[in-house]
Amino acid sequence: MYSLVIQGGRPLHGAVSISGAKNAVLPLLAATLLTREPCVIRRVPNLTDVTYMGRILAELGAKVKFQGDTITVTANRVKGVAGYDLVRKMRGSICVLGPLLGRLREAQVSLPGGCIIGPRPIDLHLKGMRALGARVTIEKGFVCAKARRLVGSELFLGGRSGPTVLGTANVMMAAALAEGVTVLESAACEPEVVDLADFLNAMGANIAGAGSPTIRITGVPELHGAEHEAIPDRIEAATFAIAAAATQGEVTLRGAQPQHLTAVLDKLQEAGAKVDRQPGGLTVKATRRLRPTDVTTQPYAGFPTDAQAQMMVLMTQAPGISIITERIYESRFMHVSELARLGANITLEGPSAVVKGATPLSGAPVMASDLRASAALLIAGLVAKGETRVKRIYHLDRGYAKIDEKLRGLGAKVERVQE
Ligand code: EPU
Repeated sequence: MYSLVIQGGRPLHGAVSISGAKNAVLPLLAATLLTREPCVIRRVPNLTDVTYMGRILAELGAKVKFQGDTITVTANRVKGVAGYDLVRKMRGSICVLGPLLGRLREAQVSLPGGCIIGPRPIDLHLKGMRALGARVTIEKGFVCAKARRLVGSELFLGGRSGPTVLGTANVMMAAALAEGVTVLESAACEPEVVDLADFLNAMGANIAGAGSPTIRITGVPELHGAEHEAIPDRIEAATFAIAAAATQGEVTLRGAQPQHLTAVLDKLQEAGAKVDRQPGGLTVKATRRLRPTDVTTQPYAGFPTDAQAQMMVLMTQAPGISIITERIYESRFMHVSELARLGANITLEGPSAVVKGATPLSGAPVMASDLRASAALLIAGLVAKGETRVKRIYHLDRGYAKIDEKLRGLGAKVERVQE
């Protein structure tokens, strides 16, 4: 098992290139199951979750070729069964359900199970498949979906915490090959949904309105191969932007799309950082005095839950009280107790974390619990004086491409060591 050892207290300076978005690439790869023809996805980040998705496609019968940051998938023949061993390691693998049902009219996908950040139900995914005419049952731990015909319908996809990102993706993919028109109301508006719709349209689908709460999908009889470049990762960009502000540095994010980051950049500016938007990216510069800021996570275009833990670290450095409220997941505060080990003063009150700053942080061993909590601990380690050891960084490698290398390029002292 690997750990990251950080000698903190050094500001980040320089430029970093933002990789392709993990949460765009996973559904894009699933979408390649919708056609027999080869599909080419570019700007694919080198991540264990992506490798894993490649393995799932291969197990389903597709030919998968990785070449640098390009993946070619040819799903000439596919089978409709994705078993527990495939699905349990990564929740994102549930997005093979829609394409398998769309293409084969039959799919059996193992239920993905729980998650450290809270329960992650898939009732809305199943509601969508049923609305298209599939018979959906849960048998022996599998979602079994079967339809003689898939027929478009009008469907409300909002849930208790708002829209669902992968649920929207799943229904969009199945509906692309249904008969007639499907109208999704309360669809997720995330840029990753738009990216998927763009790819599906390049494959011959007819999808309008992606990026708004109403998506209209006119089914087509079949899809063909296509090439597509994934969008840059807005959460990786947010993580580096927050790290720049937290370490009193200045970092240019090459390739980041500021229009996908408005809520994060707005909060960074409110917290006292300077943001300079450029055509091919943006620069974040710390100012001497940080200000406390309240943040509530929301569906896009609100502040993303995937940047909440990182923002909390920044707030430990702002003098005063910041309240960070998590509205998407029930227990996405696993980082709080670990941040306390570094000297942060944070108390939990229901769905909110009350951060009292500014507290000096000092290095200590900490344990990563999930992907974004790991990113927060890494930023805290960069801020903290002395040595911080972040254990179990396989979580980080699921979602951040070469993060230690990228940080070294910005002047950080970070080493990957085997324990
Ligand atoms: N929900 C339901 N029923 C459903 C589906 C979701 O109640 O059928 C609830 C969830 O419990 C949650 C909320 O709706 O409270 C939003 O969940 P959503 O379905 O949007 O999440 P997801 O699609 O499973 C993706 C990302 C997550 C990210 C969320 C929210 C991927 C592979 N995952 O998950 O990314 O947090 O959207 O933006 O795209 C991460 O990258 O660290 C990560 C967890």
